[in-house]
Amino acid sequence: MNQYDTIADAYRDSKQLPFREVIERYTLFRILRDIRGAKVLDMACGDGFYTRLLKQAGAAQVTGVDISIEMIRLAEQEERRNPLGCTYLHGDAAAFEPAEPVDLVVATYLLNYARTREQLLRFCQACHDALRPGGRFAGVNDNVRNPPAGTLSWKKYGLQKSCPPRPKEGDVILYSITNQDGQRFEFENYYLEPRTYERAFRDAGFQDFRWVELSLHPSQHGNPFWDDFMASPPITAFTASRPA
Ligand SMILES: C[S@@+](CC[C@H](N)C(=O)[O-])C[C@H]1O[C@@H](n2cnc3c(N)ncnc32)[C@H](O)[C@@H]1O
Repeated sequence: MNQYDTIADAYRDSKQLPFREVIERYTLFRILRDIRGAKVLDMACGDGFYTRLLKQAGAAQVTGVDISIEMIRLAEQEERRNPLGCTYLHGDAAAFEPAEPVDLVVATYLLNYARTREQLLRFCQACHDALRPGGRFAGVNDNVRNPPAGTLSWKKYGLQKSCPPRPKEGDVILYSITNQDGQRFEFENYYLEPRTYERAFRDAGFQDFRWVELSLHPSQHGNPFWDDFMASPPITAFTASRPA
């Protein structure tokens, strides 16, 4: 069983935490800019939170892929409740090939599931090969440039993150999230060095890979509540493109 099969509801509910909207979502859509008419693949789509937002932002078609059958079940349930025309598929992103090339691949928190550089390369290759020449890859990830060096406990954001003081390739990063209703749950992902990411993107054939600093929604500018999050970001964003 995939670890998300047992925490699917709790993970979905964590999307209501304020940092998801004013930082995670705001940063991602700032990178994506205008996606109207685009064919999009949402790798590791989870319960379809971003799949739906991508469609609502004007994408012509969006397909979400996830390895957790329970996350896909939640995504399909929401599609039945409120049809947007999103398609969901159960599968491993590392082996996924779309029927036709897409304009944009999005992956929020997929790459941090690679435990080795070979697994990371496979994820990057699948994302690269799914794109048309000139297509873009963008997403959000655990911030491997800022490992917590032990435990970083940020109750006010509903987030705790732990890893060894000096994490090595493949070490577990344990996330503990407390939802707004007080429900707490945990999941693991893996640490790989920033340069391992940079190499995997290059070896997969991407150009212009870069980490993207987080942005705070303008409505929150000047709100000191966000200072700690922005000063030591637990998550990061990235973008890259397939050569034309
Ligand atoms: C932190 S959740 C993010 C879900 C969604 N992208 C979001 O931001 O709400 C990570 C997701 O990655 C999925 N995942 C992990 N390894 C995967 C793989 N090899 N292929 C596809 N999905 C994977 C998990 O099942 C889980 O739904």
